[in-house]
Amino acid sequence: MAGGQPISLENLKALRKLTLKHGIKIILDMTRVAENAYFIQQREKGYANKSIAEIVKETCSLTDGATMSAKKDALVNIGGFLAVNDKKVFEEARNMVVIYEGLHTYGGLAGRDLEAMAIGIEESLSDDHMAARVGQVIYLGEKLIDAGIPIVQPIGGHGIFIDAKRFLPHVKQAQFPAQALAAAIYTDSGVRTMERGVVSAGRKANGENYFPKLELVRLTIPRRVYTQAHMDVITESIEHVYQNRKKIKGLQMVYEPKYLRFFQARFKPI
Ligand SMILES: Cc1ncc(COP(=O)(O)O)c(C=O)c1O
Repeated sequence: MAGGQPISLENLKALRKLTLKHGIKIILDMTRVAENAYFIQQREKGYANKSIAEIVKETCSLTDGATMSAKKDALVNIGGFLAVNDKKVFEEARNMVVIYEGLHTYGGLAGRDLEAMAIGIEESLSDDHMAARVGQVIYLGEKLIDAGIPIVQPIGGHGIFIDAKRFLPHVKQAQFPAQALAAAIYTDSGVRTMERGVVSAGRKANGENYFPKLELVRLTIPRRVYTQAHMDVITESIEHVYQNRKKIKGLQMVYEPKYLRFFQARFKPI
């Protein structure tokens, strides 16, 4: 999955052909591979009758290895893995595990976390589970669209992205509109969202801010945590903030860490 955008198997097959020709390996970020497979099943020609498990297997068969943050599709609280199909690379990576993580049989994870991950992988491949998971995200997205909230469309599989430039056209991008909107939603209802705009984009080598085209607020929905009633509460809060949007002012950054500032920066209202 590139930058959170779903990949199609048609694209991956074409990429595979090209990389084989040039002797380049494909390492898949399979963190959201099951959600991606769901969209292939729903949208790509020829896959409507294939199970998510079959589509995931086909996806992986077109790659040489994969990284997985198992906190996402694999439904666990902690953990992940690197998988490769080249024995030499595997042996080198296994040796590095001993140095950096723990013995190769558990890779720094507790046995119970590994067991939970094994079960999580299996359950994440269930067609019913994935239809319910993505269905909940779509439920929220459609409610927000009906309420007139500007969101990115089509609705994705793991969250909703609010278009802060359209929500707060009066706040200049230099005054962090998506961050200001995330703060306003949190103040209104305690719903914790995430800025994906100028704060996340960071600075160029010459110190100037990047001003990305997209200035978004992400509402990422954890799996199997919330009910549809929670989605209704989120919608009510965002509608309330939208009705009062003219009162929302921009922000000034008062603390900026050197790296990945979106995790730790602090702001004050202008
Ligand atoms: C596709 C994808 N890969 C990797 C990561 C990062 O995972 P971690 O938080 O375990 O570093 C994320 C986080 O959201 C993700 O969406």
